[in-house]
Amino acid sequence: MSKLSIRDLDLKNKTVFIRVDFNVPLAPGGQEITSDKRIRASLPNIQYALDHGAAVVLASHLGRPKGKPNPEMSLKPVAKRLGELLGRDVRMAPDCVGPEVEQLRPAPGGVLLLENLRFHPGEEKNDPAFSKQLASLCDVYVNDAFGSAHRAHASTVGMIQFVKQAAAGLLMDKELEYLNKATKNPARPCIAILGGAKVSDKIEVIENLMKFVDQILIGGAMAYTFLKARGEPVGKSLVEDDKLDLARVLMARAGGKLLLPTDHVVTAELKEGADHRVVTKIPDGMLAVDIGPATIEDYSAVVGKAKTIIWNGPMGVFEKPPFDRGTVALAKAVAASGAVSVVGGGDSEKAVKSAGVADKISHISTGGGASLEFLAGIELPGVAALTEK
Ligand code: 3PG
Repeated sequence: MSKLSIRDLDLKNKTVFIRVDFNVPLAPGGQEITSDKRIRASLPNIQYALDHGAAVVLASHLGRPKGKPNPEMSLKPVAKRLGELLGRDVRMAPDCVGPEVEQLRPAPGGVLLLENLRFHPGEEKNDPAFSKQLASLCDVYVNDAFGSAHRAHASTVGMIQFVKQAAAGLLMDKELEYLNKATKNPARPCIAILGGAKVSDKIEVIENLMKFVDQILIGGAMAYTFLKARGEPVGKSLVEDDKLDLARVLMARAGGKLLLPTDHVVTAELKEGADHRVVTKIPDGMLAVDIGPATIEDYSAVVGKAKTIIWNGPMGVFEKPPFDRGTVALAKAVAASGAVSVVGGGDSEKAVKSAGVADKISHISTGGGASLEFLAGIELPGVAALTEK
């Protein structure tokens, strides 16, 4: 079933409510944006609405203020940055609902950014009265907040019943296009690279990926839970001891699809520049912090043959060089493969950037949590709620 897109809407002289994901990282104090990636990713859709004669009302959450105003999570710095990037005035509303906000409804060509939706408890509770208030600000609704599509909140789901049309924005369309390309009838071989600290964060993802990928390459600390479950020594590597049985079940179900590292970079203590060596069996008292060179070679060979690659999570403690070697090497292999590659999760994104290959990745998702839920085969409520074509 396909959903209405902003391209299907008549926007001329209409007020369009665009749910964006401006949940950007801020420096302590809440004044300075440390990455404007999500703002930049929202620009084409906002520009499209403006070019087609709409008045634009933008809404987002920022952080987790728990239903109360908190000046450190205000969207004011975002309004300023957005204005600079759009090259036009962006008016900042003092709140996201209420008479004062209603009076600020822009004229066609105007842009109003509402204050943090989560300053009201009704947002996360998906409260109908709050949803109705949000819906009263617009003629049509567009959800371009892929990063929040896994949340069933008032601005992503609740308000849709009160609007005539609810469409996906250009970023939402692009995110879904790539995730669908990688998961529904993908070009083969189709592989997944999964890393990160915990198996428990990725159980559903592994179970779902097993159904359609040809191979899953495991790295990061979660590899050591699998290795311990297989009876191998892991020294003092990070292990989820309560997930060992689960790891055994996953390995049994995956058959030969699940690949684990065969050598490891180990160190006695986890700090930048610490003494380290490569081993095939992790000694007592040592901690594995990266995949070793033989694993890099084996994994890179699998990556080199792949036609579709899904990647989530780093292969080691990549933020502490030189334990970033495995992650960087795989980032380079993915970039060189020519495969359709979809990268999700903030750490994997940092890794492809630090490897200098971000522009060779087909798609870097703006939604860590949302892309993981998608890969776990869970229907995203913010997408499901949109109007059918
Ligand atoms: C994100 O950063 O993943 C999204 O903006 C969702 O934020 P949340 O996890 O606070 O709902």
